[in-house]
Amino acid sequence: MLKKKSKYIVAIVGATGAVGREMVSILEERKFPVSELVLLASDRSEGERIEFDGKNRSVKKLVNDSFHGVDIALFSAGSEQSLKYAPLAVAAGAVVIDNSSAFRMDDKVPLVVPEINAHALDKHTGIVANPSSSTIGLLMALKPIHEAVKVKRVVVTTFQSVSGTGKDAIDELAGQTVALLNFKDIEVKVYPHQIAFNCLPHIDGFLENGYTKEEMNMANETRKVMEDDTIRLTCTTVRVPVFRCHAESVNIETEKELSANEARAILAKMPGVLVYDDPSRSIYPLHLDVSGKDEIYVGRVRADDTVKNGLNIWIVIDNIRKGAALNAVQIAERLLP
Ligand code: A2P
Repeated sequence: MLKKKSKYIVAIVGATGAVGREMVSILEERKFPVSELVLLASDRSEGERIEFDGKNRSVKKLVNDSFHGVDIALFSAGSEQSLKYAPLAVAAGAVVIDNSSAFRMDDKVPLVVPEINAHALDKHTGIVANPSSSTIGLLMALKPIHEAVKVKRVVVTTFQSVSGTGKDAIDELAGQTVALLNFKDIEVKVYPHQIAFNCLPHIDGFLENGYTKEEMNMANETRKVMEDDTIRLTCTTVRVPVFRCHAESVNIETEKELSANEARAILAKMPGVLVYDDPSRSIYPLHLDVSGKDEIYVGRVRADDTVKNGLNIWIVIDNIRKGAALNAVQIAERLLP
């Protein structure tokens, strides 16, 4: 529980990563009341300098007592680090906002998209979780439709950029692309196959049911954030050779009828959603255009006439911003007393 102060000591765990760096700039952009920023990463980055508020700050190695005096700890260093260090941060008196999948389905941990279920924050006991970036993108569009006509079933296919895996994957896509265009051999380290000029229907490990963890996470996280166990969701998650943003092709079946025009009007009213939909002028959300944006972009809204009340939409989210860093900072803002 945060005590009222004029400014807070904020730690970023994974400060040198793709999401961690974005957290630093979003805290600055949104003028979050920071008295001291503690930048934490592995010993590989110890001493690296990151600019915040006009000053260069030194990255420190994450250790057990890194959280002494910290009020808010934003974690984005992977599940293993979250499982080990988040409880230590809470014991030291910090509120943790975790971007990993470590605690998302833990009953004691609220899973929050502030525009959708900020009320769940009232019940936190020290840790709050960010949903996965594709789930955030999906739910920002699904929530207002669900409220209007009740969503029964959803079929999602994602087109996820390599930044969702982290900075090593960004380097791998760049390195493979340069190597291939120069007729050189490529290195394949991060993914099981070449990612340059290729699409991989494989994100995170496979489960016994044939789905990947990422796919089951989207189904489970959707029901938790929407607080509705009746929503059926099936999905295929695909890694594409794009640096930033995730796109999602979404087929939605609803209980009551909703025309494409009505859906556009409902989506346009949702805070944080931008309807970008004029196919006659080739206007629809693109990975490149949404990069760096706070809003979820929705386009290609059209009726699916093959089912009773069906709708197809295309969503693009900046996975590093609203899909991770921005959502975490928005949660922190909501937690301020
Ligand atoms: P480092 O840069 O020192 O490896 P990304 O998701 O973009 O790959 O970033 C992962 C972030 O998590 C980086 O800041 C990385 O730090 C950090 N990290 C990874 N492993 C550890 C660890 N064992 N202890 C602390 N930070 C870690």
